[in-house]
Amino acid sequence: MTDAPMPALLAAATRQQGTQLPVWFMRQAGRSLPEYRELRVGTRMLDACADPGMIHEITMQPVRRHKVDAAIFFSDIVLPLKAIGVDLDIVAGTGPVIAHPVRTRADLDQLVPLEPGHVGFVTQAIRSIVDELGQTPLIGFAGAPFTLASYLVEGGPSKDHALTKSMMAGDPELWDQLCRRLAQISGAFLRVQIDAGARAVQLFDSWAGALAERDYRERVLPHSTSVFESLGAAVPTIHFGVGTAELLGAMAEAGSDVVGVDWRTPLDLASARIGADKAVQGNLDPALLLAPWEVLAERVRDVIRAGAQAPGHIFNLGHGVPPSTDPDVLTRIVELIHTEGPGLRAA
Ligand code: CP3
Repeated sequence: MTDAPMPALLAAATRQQGTQLPVWFMRQAGRSLPEYRELRVGTRMLDACADPGMIHEITMQPVRRHKVDAAIFFSDIVLPLKAIGVDLDIVAGTGPVIAHPVRTRADLDQLVPLEPGHVGFVTQAIRSIVDELGQTPLIGFAGAPFTLASYLVEGGPSKDHALTKSMMAGDPELWDQLCRRLAQISGAFLRVQIDAGARAVQLFDSWAGALAERDYRERVLPHSTSVFESLGAAVPTIHFGVGTAELLGAMAEAGSDVVGVDWRTPLDLASARIGADKAVQGNLDPALLLAPWEVLAERVRDVIRAGAQAPGHIFNLGHGVPPSTDPDVLTRIVELIHTEGPGLRAA
């Protein structure tokens, strides 16, 4: 019996990439797709995230349409918090809103350990998704302690993360207690997804770029590191944040196989900061999805050439797909990457 060849995404993540270039898009499932908008009519975001049939269908939509090299599990970074009983909602056009923000030691009582039984619907959904996916890998994900803490402390989305940073600096002990609980929750949520069949996982520290490197290293990196450590070497791991040009070296130290890079740093420069022992993921500017095709295609080729300088490259956007994106443009990018990628990488 011969083993099936390793999927391109896993080969790239583990630095065994040939000329094949895998591609998927952050937020590939969601409002850019008419079939998603149709399915979601009358169902609240968090109800959709708790319904195995809906999770399955929404996760598969972009794979069927765009022929991307990976599915990403449809859920949200705040879903595990909801599952352990935190009173929160995801408000359309705003994001997560927390009923009782975490500001004192007593507020930590909301954050009990996540057990697999809290998210049985995730296990059920992932088993059926991987069945349909066959060789295409499913990427699981969780929010990193800092980004989750920001929502919990601020009570909702924040531009400056002022309350979060003031807790971090003013009461580092409370901050560390909060992040230890969040690291357990994120690690356990990832483990559930891996046990059900996810073949790679991404830790989203979307808002880490708001921090100075010193604060990141002292108060955030140890907690993100503990999430990766809790997984052992079960599956390849990806660590992503936005606005992290100054933090790429530190984020690489958390222990992932791949570091996700936003559009501000060219991938060859990013790779030099991340180190020769890791692959990179990214990093087309999502705003360019609105540009004329020939302009966009040339930028896609630039990303491919820069990524070829790294020990491994997974093509992605620098952040999520904007809801106004024409999905046909994404399909065309996938086709370009699959047809021209190998030649550009070999050049
Ligand atoms: O396709 C995928 O990438 C998988 C699904 C996914 C969602 N959220 C679905 C979603 C993933 C990976 C996330 C992660 C997530 N959620 C992050 C990290 C990634 C990032 O963008 O940096 C963050 C910060 C959140 C918190 C959150 N949830 C925000 C900021 C929003 C947007 C609010 C809005 O309406 O603009 C959400 C809601 C959300 N999560 C939607 C989707 C498809 C939109 C809600 C809807 O369709 O009704």
